[in-house]
Amino acid sequence: MLLTILPVVALLAACQPQRGIQRGEDFNFDWRFTLGDAPAYAEASFDDASWRELHLPHDWSVEGEFSLDNPSTPSGGALPGGIGWYRKHFRLPEGVFDADGRPRKAVSVVFDGVFMNSTVYVNGQEFGTRPYGYSSFCYDITSALVPGENVIAVRCDNAEQPNSRWYAGCGIYRNVHLVVTDPVHVAYNGLYVRATQVSDKQARVVMTVETDGTRPGQEIDYEFRILDAKGRTVARTAATGAPVFETSLEIARPHRWDVDDTYLYTAQVTVSAEGMKDTYATRFGVRTTEWDADKGFFLNGRPLKMLGVCLHHDMGCLGTAVHLRALQRELQILKDMGVNAIRTSHNPPAPELLDLCDEMGFVVMDEAMDMWRKRKTRYDYARFFDEWHVRDMHDFVKRDRNHPSVVMWSIGNEIGEQSDSRDDNLENLTPEQANALLNFIHSLNQNDPGEDNPNVLLTRHMAQLIRDLDTTRAITAGCNGVWPGNNLLRAGALDVYGFNYHPQLYDSCRVWFPGKPLIGSETVSSLNSRGIYFQPSTDRKKLPSRGWMYTAEDEVDWNHQVTAYDACSAPWADFHEDAWIAVRDRDFIAGTFIWTGFDYLGEPTPYGWPSRSSYFGVVDLAGFPKDAYWLYQSEWTDETVLHLFPHWNWKEGEPVDIWAYYSNADEVELFVNGESLGRQAKTRDVLHVQWNAVPFHPGKIEVVSYKGGREVAREARYTAGEPVSLRLTPDRRSIAADGYDLCYVTVEALDADGRVVPTATDMLHFSVEGAGELFGVDNGNAADTLSLKGCDKALFSGKALAVVRSLRGEPGTATLSVRSDYASVKTNIVSK
Ligand code: GAL
Repeated sequence: MLLTILPVVALLAACQPQRGIQRGEDFNFDWRFTLGDAPAYAEASFDDASWRELHLPHDWSVEGEFSLDNPSTPSGGALPGGIGWYRKHFRLPEGVFDADGRPRKAVSVVFDGVFMNSTVYVNGQEFGTRPYGYSSFCYDITSALVPGENVIAVRCDNAEQPNSRWYAGCGIYRNVHLVVTDPVHVAYNGLYVRATQVSDKQARVVMTVETDGTRPGQEIDYEFRILDAKGRTVARTAATGAPVFETSLEIARPHRWDVDDTYLYTAQVTVSAEGMKDTYATRFGVRTTEWDADKGFFLNGRPLKMLGVCLHHDMGCLGTAVHLRALQRELQILKDMGVNAIRTSHNPPAPELLDLCDEMGFVVMDEAMDMWRKRKTRYDYARFFDEWHVRDMHDFVKRDRNHPSVVMWSIGNEIGEQSDSRDDNLENLTPEQANALLNFIHSLNQNDPGEDNPNVLLTRHMAQLIRDLDTTRAITAGCNGVWPGNNLLRAGALDVYGFNYHPQLYDSCRVWFPGKPLIGSETVSSLNSRGIYFQPSTDRKKLPSRGWMYTAEDEVDWNHQVTAYDACSAPWADFHEDAWIAVRDRDFIAGTFIWTGFDYLGEPTPYGWPSRSSYFGVVDLAGFPKDAYWLYQSEWTDETVLHLFPHWNWKEGEPVDIWAYYSNADEVELFVNGESLGRQAKTRDVLHVQWNAVPFHPGKIEVVSYKGGREVAREARYTAGEPVSLRLTPDRRSIAADGYDLCYVTVEALDADGRVVPTATDMLHFSVEGAGELFGVDNGNAADTLSLKGCDKALFSGKALAVVRSLRGEPGTATLSVRSDYASVKTNIVSK
């Protein structure tokens, strides 16, 4: 098929934007891609007709096969790396060139993120290399452009691995935008907006603008506006001044942004000079934040305990390719669990994640990096740190500082420089060993405050890089070295001390760090497989069981699964209930960030190959909640929760522990095949009810919750028979025909009575016909080595997932077919 070269103007009409107010036009379509490397790929004249056509965002790594031979190792997701190239032929809109073919406009390309080591060429001219795959960046490509056809080529080099402790993905995995402006224009991320002096009566909004393309000494005419959520102008001012200019406007009776009322204003600036003009807009919120060493975090004057999760950036079977709908679904599942805070562990997220946090009501700990100069894996960012960290920190803060959701910056996670020498040998370890060893730093104790040393100075420098660009947010770090001698803590540069794990030291921290606000920047690290239950649940396990690395014995014993009862955690970590109680009971701990909200590719602690994704999530990789989800929902929301587990499919007579999470009730009664086993109530220290060693006889278990003696809720589990059919449940019946929108379809096996078979593991075969494509398959099994992009996937604990993506400009019906040995079913999704 011939490559269609659409003028940009045509693209604009056809594309639905992926995001809210952002600069530029969608530049994601009509790219070509190849794996491999050759200098000629950069040249405009290179014939790329045989390359694969695709549209961005794209992650080539997740399209590959899981293998122990991949240098990423299971810790990095066991998926391939390598070098890949993308090329796009494009034409510019009318008016970019004058009659003589000279550019009359400024044209730049914004990359939200390319993993990693990207080098960008336009018509053979090189515009730069960015090693850090999480940075967003922009090139002004005007000097290389010609009337007629242009070619942009992007080389991505992720060959040297391991370079990450988790799965990072490969390629142009975030959105790309083309920005065409007059030569005098607002710079990339060139408008900084913050509400200061906020009261119920008014807020003072300070706006700082940077203008590019000016001549020395040139004066700019500015018009600043603030628009309310309905687009009405609520404040306006005009001025003339230098290319970097600051002003302030007043909003009367400001409508605050809050987690349950996400009111957003728009700040807009128009710059003009000598007939040239550019208008730039960004959203912002009016809100106040305060930190108190005794009482934690306050949003708009009200205490807000951060009920948070850490998230890595992959989205399961999509790999790292950013899709707005995938992020939205992830955040909605978390919101329904009661989560109000996100930590972008351990790197700047896709900008859309912050847009959604602004819109959906989450506060965010926005994190810069996982290492500074001391590496954690052989080829990681440490090798670029000296040359690149100033630029990367700068771009990170400038990009994210208008988001009301972002309430704190983290300068790093478990940074090796916390101590002086202990981790020098990390570079000789495998990523699995590095993960385990880092986690074990938790148990070290270094109390010698010592003198200022280079690492103390480096900490101050990192914090200062942020303060130079934003003084309106607290600066923190995720520290696993919880001791007064920790270089990051004693540098005096952090506003909030973030502790990873160590709840047993929270009270000591208060003594060691008087007057400092404290937060559980990382907590829990429980290990659970969805729908897998090991008896008895009273046998609480720390895995790996011996020493700090898993052993062959662990793997054999547990068949690469861990129990879904809250009875298994990493040895440096805590069970769900214990970790939450430690934070709940201490007002001075501003919040908790569970490791992790969702499972992620890579770091399959406590196992090695064939495990290739994590067990830490409260929600599995496919987005199906594990049982702990309802623990948090019962503690963190006002919903009436009653959640009964495990399933009721066991061997005759087998003793089974039965648990329930509940809320809005005083007690819960268990009935087994109609017979009551009595009522129980949770306590301050035990957040569930539990009946141990109930002998299994087929039939039904049921729990009933009561308040003041009256029934509040009931829930049952039935013994299911053999699977005879499949049920498909799409999350939405209608999606947009924009090439981005997704439908998530859950597949379950049913028995002859229509009951879900919770233990089914049958192989399924998927296909999509019509107006959609099969975009991913998953089941949440961390040790399943079948491709996430293939057509075959087995049920795991009775469930599987298919993701259908729409086709751009091809409305119609997409039909998903799923086949097993015993059934063949279809479902239709309308794409319009
Ligand atoms: C932490 C680390 C995370 C992850 C976690 C697993 O120490 O910050 O990235 O490795 O341990 O428990």
